[in-house]
Amino acid sequence: MSRHSRSRRDLEQGIESDFGRNLSYGAYLDLPTLLSAQHPRATPPQHDELLFIIQHQTTELWLRLVIHELTSACTLLGADDHRQALKRIARVKHIQASMTEQWSVLATLTPSEYARFRAFLATGSGFQSWQYRAVEFMLGNKNAGMLPVFAHDEEQHAELVRLLHRPSLYDEVLAWLARRGHAIPAEVLERDVSEPYHSHPGVVEALGRVYADPQRFWAEYETAEELVDLEDNFQVWRFRHLKTVERIIGSKRGTGGSSGTPFLRRALDLTFFPELYDVRSAIQDVEPEGYHGGDGRG
Ligand code: HEM
Repeated sequence: MSRHSRSRRDLEQGIESDFGRNLSYGAYLDLPTLLSAQHPRATPPQHDELLFIIQHQTTELWLRLVIHELTSACTLLGADDHRQALKRIARVKHIQASMTEQWSVLATLTPSEYARFRAFLATGSGFQSWQYRAVEFMLGNKNAGMLPVFAHDEEQHAELVRLLHRPSLYDEVLAWLARRGHAIPAEVLERDVSEPYHSHPGVVEALGRVYADPQRFWAEYETAEELVDLEDNFQVWRFRHLKTVERIIGSKRGTGGSSGTPFLRRALDLTFFPELYDVRSAIQDVEPEGYHGGDGRG
């Protein structure tokens, strides 16, 4: 039989088939629970609602892992182990890439297909995703104004309050920089971490020294650039959400009650790590040798 004419693959001897004796794939992953957690609500049933549910569920699963990795990254930085912390962040970046790419699946949902089951979602909205808010808090976008959205669920609310009062990843990085001898102002290090963070000129200055001499401060420089990657990826996810929403509901209001795309667009102006962007404008361009001034540079 030629290699290409084979149409089936036989089981090999030794492949476990008596799952009663061992832990099976399905039991380990608790697939019965996972795969019975999709409950379309539309009547009559709508073919496309399953896509909508699974898209949200897979995002929530990835967010669960992001929270796990970021929690560990904060602990590691607190223990001055920036190398392992960067390993955690590297994984988060790949998860973000996956979450962003996933929008292309939902973009196959047309406005008319969505309109057939949208009314069955009532006031349900991704805006009520507590894991999303947890990630925002962990990265540094502290906004106590979001808490009332979760008042109906004691456990979720308590967890968000806890995270609001915990140092964010950015707080941990700034404290780590200070321990490595960088002049991070005391008022930044001792601030109330539950309050929104604002750019501080002293931090821009400290980062300016790092960016002026990457070779000398390689660990700090690399860590700073990893954070910029995280923020960049987060914004790309937000942008793809916005564009997917735009093509599916146009300028309709959101099921959560917001203005819809104008509300989502405003999130694109948010920043987790303001000084990491401010420092970019402060970096001096290196003049070419023999250059004596001039204009017309970009
Ligand atoms: C047909 C698909 C979707 C539409 C039309 C849509 C629409 C919207 C709208 C209009 C908002 C603003 C709040 C509101 O008024 O509801 C929102 C927020 C949000 N959505 Fe979606 N969404 C969709 C899919 C998704 C998916 C798959 C996720 C993944 C979990 C998601 C996560 C979020 C999050 C986290 C927010 C809060 C964003 C923020 O606070 O800036 N959405 N969505």
